[in-house]
Amino acid sequence: MGTLTLSRFFVLHVFLIPAFIFAFVAMHVYSFRRAGAAGPVTEDPVSPKLPAESFYPKQLVMDMGFAVLIIVVLGFLAYLWPIELGPKADPADTQFLPRPEWYYIPVFQYLKYWHGSTAVLGILVIPGILGLLLVGVPFFDRSLERRPWKRPRSVGLFTIILLALGALGFASHREDMRNPGVAAQLKTQREDTLQFMKAKFEPELSGGSLVAQNKALANPEATKGKAIFEREGCNACHGDNGVGTAAAPKLVGVGSKYDAAKLEALLHHPTEKMTQGGMPPVELKDDEMKPLISYLQNLN
Ligand code: HEC
Repeated sequence: MGTLTLSRFFVLHVFLIPAFIFAFVAMHVYSFRRAGAAGPVTEDPVSPKLPAESFYPKQLVMDMGFAVLIIVVLGFLAYLWPIELGPKADPADTQFLPRPEWYYIPVFQYLKYWHGSTAVLGILVIPGILGLLLVGVPFFDRSLERRPWKRPRSVGLFTIILLALGALGFASHREDMRNPGVAAQLKTQREDTLQFMKAKFEPELSGGSLVAQNKALANPEATKGKAIFEREGCNACHGDNGVGTAAAPKLVGVGSKYDAAKLEALLHHPTEKMTQGGMPPVELKDDEMKPLISYLQNLN
């Protein structure tokens, strides 16, 4: 796990999975158009009693109506139960107990039962078989019957899996609540989250304006200069992003005060006031001095 893992999962989620979704939607629409709508589950599959209807406009209107309904319901759910956004993660906080979203809690609990070499069975083999079973239903179940109550095996297996997931979710919750330390910690985290969500939104800036910071960092040489600025400890006196501290004035806007040559001269030979303030002469080679100056000039 690391930075590369994140990048790979990002690519997977943003490119590959949507590509597959589009492909599956196309396949679905194609087979639907080829075979036609099956109608209600109670319809006789061999000699249907309902008259045939054209796809357009009735089917299209029904599909669109249902899609709008789903969007409205999702909108209401998102309004009533907004996605949780907690305070900034603190890597130094060893007390924090991570918990997945509610719909992953059953899987989270399930994974706790698999250790060591048997983990492959629980993590790959069993979910793989279940996935294949689901994909294979139309191939295993060749009967024309579509009424759920007449298909005990498929519907029964599906219900059992659903109930098992529910039970796992419940078991996870009970395990958390039975341990007083865990329950208290989860309660605190929840309160922190709710409090953070209620608080007024303030963009987090380490100093200066976001516009100025972004502008400085849009220039690759200035980005290199920022690293040198920090490495040389300039920020110890001039503050992060050159916003200034009690020890030294701000450097934001210094580029309009001096041109590049003047800045370089000033850094090589600080004024008496600068020396008195503890600023040492900057001894850097050209390939580092240039980016540093570029960074200073971009601090607008
Ligand atoms: C020990 C504290 C300290 C450190 C470290 C330091 N400076 Fe300074 N710097 C000062 C002080 C104090 C002044 C202003 C003196 C004055 O009042 O004119 C100053 C002035 C400046 C000025 C002139 C600003 C102006 O508006 O005239 C520049 C440019 C500058 N520093 C750049 C840097 C750079 C780049 C670094 C890192 C390589 C750095 N400083 C590190 C204390 C420091």
